[in-house]
Amino acid sequence: MRSHNHKPPHYSLLFFHLLSSLFLHSVTSKIHNVLKRGSSLSVEDGSDIITSPDGSFACGFRNEGGNAYWLAIWFTSSADRTVVWTANRDRPVNGKGSKLSLRKNGVMSLTDVDGKEVWYANITANNAQRAEVLDTGNLVLKDPQGEIIWQSFDYPTDTLLPSQTFTKSNKLIATRRKGSYYTGYYSFYFDNDNVMRLLYDGPEISSIYWPNLAFTLFQNGRTSYNSSRIASFDDIGRFLSSDLLQFNASDMGIGIKRRLTMDYDGNLRLHSLNSSSGSWSVSWAALSQNCNVHGLCGRNGICTYSPEPKCACPPGYEPSDPSDWNQGCKPTFKRTCPDSEQMKFVEIPNTDYFGFDLTQRNGPISVNACRDLCLQDCRCEAFSYRQIGTILCFTKSALFNGLQTQQFPGSIFLKLPSSVEASPTTVLHGSDALCETIAPTVSIGSPTMYNTMTKKVRWVLLYSFAFTVGAIESLIIASGLWFLCRKRSVPAKVEDGYRVILSHFRRFNYAELKKATDNFKEELGRGGSGIVYKGVLRDGRAVAVKRLGDMYQGEQEFWAEVSTIGKINHMNLVRMWGFCSEGRQRLLVYEYMENLSLDKLLFTSNFLGWKERFNVALRTARGLAYLHHECLEWVIHCDVKPENILLDSAFEPKITDFGLAKLSKRGGRGSNISRIRGTKGYMAPEWALNLTITAKVDVYSYGVVILELVRGVRLATWVVEDAEEQEVELTRFVSILKTKIQHREESWMEDIVDPRLKGQFNRFQAAALVEIGLACMEEDRSKRPTMDTVVQVLLESEAE
Ligand SMILES: *[C@@H]1O[C@H](CO)[C@@H](O)[C@H](O)[C@H]1NC(C)=O
Ligand SMILES: *[C@@H]1O[C@H](CO)[C@@H](O)[C@H](O)[C@H]1NC(C)=O
Ligand SMILES: *[C@@H]1O[C@H](CO)[C@@H](O)[C@H](O)[C@H]1NC(C)=O
Ligand SMILES: *[C@@H]1O[C@H](CO)[C@@H](O)[C@H](O)[C@H]1NC(C)=O
Repeated sequence: MRSHNHKPPHYSLLFFHLLSSLFLHSVTSKIHNVLKRGSSLSVEDGSDIITSPDGSFACGFRNEGGNAYWLAIWFTSSADRTVVWTANRDRPVNGKGSKLSLRKNGVMSLTDVDGKEVWYANITANNAQRAEVLDTGNLVLKDPQGEIIWQSFDYPTDTLLPSQTFTKSNKLIATRRKGSYYTGYYSFYFDNDNVMRLLYDGPEISSIYWPNLAFTLFQNGRTSYNSSRIASFDDIGRFLSSDLLQFNASDMGIGIKRRLTMDYDGNLRLHSLNSSSGSWSVSWAALSQNCNVHGLCGRNGICTYSPEPKCACPPGYEPSDPSDWNQGCKPTFKRTCPDSEQMKFVEIPNTDYFGFDLTQRNGPISVNACRDLCLQDCRCEAFSYRQIGTILCFTKSALFNGLQTQQFPGSIFLKLPSSVEASPTTVLHGSDALCETIAPTVSIGSPTMYNTMTKKVRWVLLYSFAFTVGAIESLIIASGLWFLCRKRSVPAKVEDGYRVILSHFRRFNYAELKKATDNFKEELGRGGSGIVYKGVLRDGRAVAVKRLGDMYQGEQEFWAEVSTIGKINHMNLVRMWGFCSEGRQRLLVYEYMENLSLDKLLFTSNFLGWKERFNVALRTARGLAYLHHECLEWVIHCDVKPENILLDSAFEPKITDFGLAKLSKRGGRGSNISRIRGTKGYMAPEWALNLTITAKVDVYSYGVVILELVRGVRLATWVVEDAEEQEVELTRFVSILKTKIQHREESWMEDIVDPRLKGQFNRFQAAALVEIGLACMEEDRSKRPTMDTVVQVLLESEAE
């Protein structure tokens, strides 16, 4: 009975509500073009907004998902209605009762549910007649004469729009995290010396990280002599600042909507809107490597690529808060001063922490002496040591801004109590396992795979940035390298949903390349994947343009794959500068290499001296190790041979043609690509055995190349005998080699090494190369070393 009684009021209430909302809708709620004096926008009604005349921007209330609301301006045509400005950044208002009013007295203010004013347009005049959003995305207040007396463009938050002037009183400050509107720690601003900089200003430390601190202002192309401190970018995508910072959008031209945003991850990026899909792509970025941003991984944390930037904790440390990478890592031991027990050091190669140096020694100092400096000072938590030209030794009082990248030529040696367990190996990078390492709480993959992969790096606590990889992706990562060469369906990233087209890597159009190559006139070479032509770009850069044969695939897939390759950057890999995809045309644009490929400098009357040969072996190994282990993109080359190793004028090798395995149409459909990639003689046995393909196929091919380097002739030749193809030369050579070594023949070395060298070679290094070559060519691929191990061994024999 009771419930019965309750029904009528309920219904009538609903009815009333419906009526009133209908009523409200028809009377007060509409999309305004202007907000007139005496009217207001209310937070409850999402359709209560002011739009620009062309409809591309709107101003109204937005929330982060909860009941906190912000007065904001956003792009209407982007899929996520990207916010470019907020009024009340750190003072959100209630989702009920709050409103923006242009009051009768001419003041525009934002009030919370309790009527409290949380924000107002700061003008002294009281004659504001109306508020409008212009087509530029500028919210303005106009006086009765139509003059602008206040504009949101004067108070940017994290975004600068075309035609918006950036001055010394402005700052672009990133949001605290993705999707948030609160003020974060990263800012872009004019410094006191008139230079535009990027600053991390966090709870514990603050530091500038851009322009590149390793260079002078002048080297960075900036000046501090123009004190006008003014910057802006135009509709075409050209940015110009009074400190001479200038750049162009990679998709320069009119008709594209762009925004320059201080992104939440500390990078300043120019984003371009694809108006048909509503998604953004990056058309310029201040930093090409996001780990160079300071403060990302907090105290003690190390930023590493796997392949997305991630935070990791070094040995002896664990995450302070696994749900927030910004909080860094805390030691698992107690730090005391003086040291309470015996201390030891653990080396993390290719890693550095920026700043907080206690001492700094440039000049000859041994690693032991550097270690002693750290040992003697109980404030020292680690030391950085590198040996490039001059030796550098820094002892560190605090560990911030940790960065690991193959490009960094030094190591960090962490000081830990001897009792702390930490494997003293090539920890963070090194093993394949970095790619596969996962948050320790998540257990993934088949148990066997999991075990073998995590064994080496059990201590590594990798936890992803809150914004990147979820468990699903970890799963993909965990299933490992074998996955790739076959068919890598991991979306070719698309950092954070954005397609990266940095200015050094771009899309060319066909006409442009046709012109650059003078209608494909000068052929540089041809291979399985296509013909390569020489060309000169409009800006004068010499390029090698590769026209892909029938390696044809869909536009999207092609674009995705080449963008992935375009991001790979290592001194021993040929750089890809861009691509072209029009109709059935698929072209790749590479840096042009002055010198020849290794085969031309080894198997002909030109021949390399020993020093160069050893260098080629070492550097080629480095390039491959980078592809296999650095994990930036996890690439298996699949066609390592002398023809694909180019040498520059200093005989520095650069590997070319990597990443193309994935572009092949014939390899697609989830089948492995074994049937098509590779060159006979250099191909590992498993190609013929229908096994899954791993990075070990490259190790095998590399082994053949290394033996050829020693021998100075092509070993990988094939002859047809009794209707059966055989790799006579190689097989014979390997068996001779094995016999000679087995019988410990005195002169085996002299018999094996290229006679053209006339004995001018390093016996120790030659022995190392032969040993590695044979190991790499093991039938059983599990017995072959990884490229990382090869690099280590070669480095050890380099100094001999
Ligand atoms: C309003 O602007 C004046 C100068 O234009 C400035 O001194 C004052 O601090 C501003 N007030 C607020 C609340 O921003
Ligand atoms: C300073 O920069 C501004 C803006 O780029 C420019 O108009 C002006 O000519 C520069 N002044 C000098 C002295 O170079
Ligand atoms: C940007 O493009 C203009 C041509 O519109 C050119 O003059 C300028 O040098 C370019 N700037 C950069 C940094 O590439
Ligand atoms: C824009 O997005 C559409 C749909 O995803 C796509 O077909 C098109 O190629 C994109 N345009 C550009 C310039 O990226």
